[in-house]
Amino acid sequence: MRHRFGDVFSLQLAWTPVVVLNGLAAVREAMVTRGEDTADRPPAPIYQVPGFGPRSQGRPFRPNGLLYKAVSNVIASLTCGRRFKDDPRFLRLLDLAQEGLKEETGFLREVLNAIPVLLRIPGLAGKVLHSQKAFLAQLGELLTKHRMIWNPAQPPQDLTDAFLAEMDKAKGNPESSFSDENLCMVVADLFLAGMVTTSTTLAWGLLLMILHLDVQRRVQQEIDDVIGQMRRPEMGDQARMPYTTAVIHEVQRFGDIVPLGVTHMTSRDIEVQGFHIPKGTTLFTNLSSVLKDEAVWEKPFRFHPEHFLDAQGHFVKPEAFLPFSAGRRACLGEPLARMELFLFFTCLLQGFSFSVPAGQPRPSHSRVVSFLVTPSPYELCAVPR
Ligand code: HEM
Ligand SMILES: *[C@@H]1O[C@H](CO)[C@@H](O)[C@H](O)[C@H]1NC(C)=O
Repeated sequence: MRHRFGDVFSLQLAWTPVVVLNGLAAVREAMVTRGEDTADRPPAPIYQVPGFGPRSQGRPFRPNGLLYKAVSNVIASLTCGRRFKDDPRFLRLLDLAQEGLKEETGFLREVLNAIPVLLRIPGLAGKVLHSQKAFLAQLGELLTKHRMIWNPAQPPQDLTDAFLAEMDKAKGNPESSFSDENLCMVVADLFLAGMVTTSTTLAWGLLLMILHLDVQRRVQQEIDDVIGQMRRPEMGDQARMPYTTAVIHEVQRFGDIVPLGVTHMTSRDIEVQGFHIPKGTTLFTNLSSVLKDEAVWEKPFRFHPEHFLDAQGHFVKPEAFLPFSAGRRACLGEPLARMELFLFFTCLLQGFSFSVPAGQPRPSHSRVVSFLVTPSPYELCAVPR
């Protein structure tokens, strides 16, 4: 649409006027320069959602489920102070989170937010809200259990402990936002925003490694030179691993998993690229148009780690690298996501070599678009190094 209508154009989604921002200049002007006036979110009547063991050695398998479980346990550690292995209630929580994101494709969600009365159609509301409701119920149960073992005398071990302590302090203050309900919402937000995004990015990473074996080998060479096989990777290694860092950034740029970002709303009349945008307008940041901007990237539609390397092989980060968006509402989990991507990716390539299973066709780069963009399902083999 950008080629027909330019970098800033408006359209009508049901009864809501929305503006789509395309390209680095427009997105940066709206999110950073005018960041104060574009930091609202549109109201959302429906709740807005925003290890490879020896068992599988050499045999083909789909990596997505294992990546998802591994990443989920990082969020579980931060919010609940523990990891889960095969606890059926935790596995159900993960299933529900995934279902919820799948069911409500971006478009259906926008329509339901724009026309909340549709939510009264029994079948439709049930379909969209079912897994979200079940997710919150399951999470509520987990948090109730956590509260029973909570010991206020101990320093907080995780986010829930800290929140419960604030709730205690705020007792009797009806204005306080430290409530049971908000605890559930905050933890739900972190789970939903943090699990599928990171694990989908890692799924893109492994796919790109089996499709580009030369890149995989160069990453492994760098891992061997800088870390070796005797210890696990640490964040301190990153500064000495420009190639691996470039590859991870290119995986994010190429994967482009949140193509239309998360909607914002103007809190004031503003001007962007000379266009007047009234207060209360919903904004879509077309992150895809920035991550694949032909004016910035040498090969926008190819996987090309050199996008992030200068002539001397040093890591460089072009301004148009915006997978987390920009400005004051940019992804709150970016620092955590950066660490997870580096540590999981290097650990996996330190321990294993990945390849397309013998006799299977090469998987494609094709994209499955729902709220997030995931790679088409694929299998790989993992052989210990
Ligand atoms: C590769 C991984 C990730 C990507 C690509 C990603 C991307 C994004 C994007 C594009 C937004 C919308 C920003 C905007 O509205 O302008 C966002 C928001 C958000 N992300 Fe992430 N994210 C990732 C990982 C995480 C993780 C690990 C967490 C939490 C632990 C997280 C928590 C959040 C939260 C809470 C918001 C909403 C912030 C707000 O409304 O102010 N994200 N993310
Ligand atoms: C977003 O950008 C991509 C790539 O430039 C483009 O193909 C697509 O039409 C844009 N989407 C919208 C809604 O403008």
